[in-house]
Amino acid sequence: MASKEAEIGIVGLGAMGANLGWNIAEHGYPVAGLDNSDAKTEAFASNAPKGGSAAPVTGTTDAKAFTARLRTPRAIVLLVPAGDVVDSVIDSLLPHLDKGDVLIDGGNSHFVDTDRRAADLKAAGLHFMGMGVSGGEDGARHGPSMMPGGDAEGWKRVQEVLEAAAAKVDGEPCVAWLGKGSAGHYVKMVHNGIEYGLMELIAEAYDLMCRGLNMNREQIQATFAAWSKGEMASFLMDITADIFTKRDPMTDGYLLDEILDAARQKGTGMWTSQEAMENKVPTPIIDAAVAMRNLSDFKAQREQASRELVGPHGQGAQPDGTDALVEALGHALYGAMIMTYAQGMQLLQEGNKARGYGIDPETVARIWRGGCIIRARLLEDLRAAYARDPQIPNLVFDPELERRLEHSQPHLREVVRAAAERGLPAPALMAALSYYDAYRSARLPANLIQAQRDYFGAHTFERIDREGTFHAHWE
Ligand code: 6PG
Repeated sequence: MASKEAEIGIVGLGAMGANLGWNIAEHGYPVAGLDNSDAKTEAFASNAPKGGSAAPVTGTTDAKAFTARLRTPRAIVLLVPAGDVVDSVIDSLLPHLDKGDVLIDGGNSHFVDTDRRAADLKAAGLHFMGMGVSGGEDGARHGPSMMPGGDAEGWKRVQEVLEAAAAKVDGEPCVAWLGKGSAGHYVKMVHNGIEYGLMELIAEAYDLMCRGLNMNREQIQATFAAWSKGEMASFLMDITADIFTKRDPMTDGYLLDEILDAARQKGTGMWTSQEAMENKVPTPIIDAAVAMRNLSDFKAQREQASRELVGPHGQGAQPDGTDALVEALGHALYGAMIMTYAQGMQLLQEGNKARGYGIDPETVARIWRGGCIIRARLLEDLRAAYARDPQIPNLVFDPELERRLEHSQPHLREVVRAAAERGLPAPALMAALSYYDAYRSARLPANLIQAQRDYFGAHTFERIDREGTFHAHWE
C-alpha cells in the first residue's frame, strides 16, 4: 500500500479498535492500525473484511510508519484503556504528528482528563476530541453510537467517516458532534450512569421473579422475552432474555446460576453519581445502582449476615397472584426506566449549563436510539419530548411521559410493597417510587432539616411568608 493512503488511523487494536477499524474499512475508507502487539497488528490486517467495497487495512507496531501511512491532516482514533495509557499513547505519537492533525480519544475517559488533554494538545496545534463509543464489540463492528465532542475543526475532518460507520436509525447516523471541550465524554459518562440504573432495575425484577415468586428459569425467560417485544423493547431487555437461555457447558444447569453474584465496574457509573452530587442533581436510581454493585462485592459479609440477620418469615411455594404481580412488575419497571433516563438527562442538562458545552439534549436522545447499550424504543419518545420542548427542565413534565408515569405508579407501589414484604432488596425500584413521590410533593420535610441546621449551627433559614434569612434561638 502506498504511503499517506489511509483515511483514518486506529491506535489500540483490541476488540473495540479492531472492530471499529474493520467497520470503517468495510465502508470504503482505508484504515491503518497501530498496536504494540505484533499478533494484534497482524490479525488486524489479515482478518479485515475483503471484497465488495472493503478498503485496505494495514497494521504496524511502529508509530512512525503508522503516521506515515495516513493522509494529512491525519485523523487518528485512540481506543485504548482509559487512564494513564491514553497519556502515554499520546506522548508516543506526538513526535510523529504535525500541526492540524486530529486526535480522537474513543475510550471511556473521565471528562476532566479530556479537558486537560484538549488544553495541552491545543497548545501543540492539534485538534483533540473526546468521543464516547458505545455498543461493545458488536456495535463497533456493525454500527456503534458515537458521541464526539471537542474541537469542531476535528469533527469536520472525520464527520463523513464516522457517519458512515455509525449505527443508523430511520436513515440517520447515530453520531453527532455534541459540543465543546469534553462534551462527548460527559455524554458518554451519563449514558453509562443510565446503563447502570437500567441494569440494576432489570436485576431487581429478576430477583423478584426468582426469589420472590419462585418462578423458574423458563418462566423468567419468557417474561423478559415478552417485555423485550413491548414498550420496554431495548437492547438490554433482549440480551437479558437471551442470557436466561444459555446453558452451562460445564454443568447441566444454566450458566447464569454459576456466575458469582459480585458485580464489577470500571467506574463510569460511579462518575455519574459523583458528578450528580457535585452539581446537586438528584439521580437516586443511578446512585442505588452504583451502591448495589458495591454491596454485591461484600460477598463474605453478605453470607455471614444471611445467617444472622432476620427477615420476614413465610415465603414458600409460588404464591397466588403471581401473574398479576408479574404484570405489575412490567408496568413498574417501565416507569422506573423512564425516570432513570429522566435523571440522567437532567444531569446532562445541568452539567451542560454549568460547563457551557452547548449540548442539545434532543440530539443526544437521537444518537442513542441505535448502536448503544441503552438503545430502546423509549429513546424515540425522549427525542420527541425534547422536540416538543427543548427547554423542558425534567422529562417527567413531558405530557406523554407524564401519562405513562401516572399509569406506572400504582404498579410501582404494588411491586415495592411486594419486595418489602418478602424481604427482597429493590433499592432502584424503591428509589424510583420515592423520586416520583418527592417530585410531586410541593412541600417536603426539608423545613425540618433547615430548622435542625439552624438549631445546631446557626445556619439560618428562609421563610415561606417573607423575604430574607432568619435565625431562631431554639433553646
Ligand atoms: C458501552 C458500555 C461500555 C462498557 C463499560 C462497562 O456503552 O458500550 O458502557 O463502555 O461496557 O466499560 O462499564 P463497567 O465496567 O463500569 O460496567
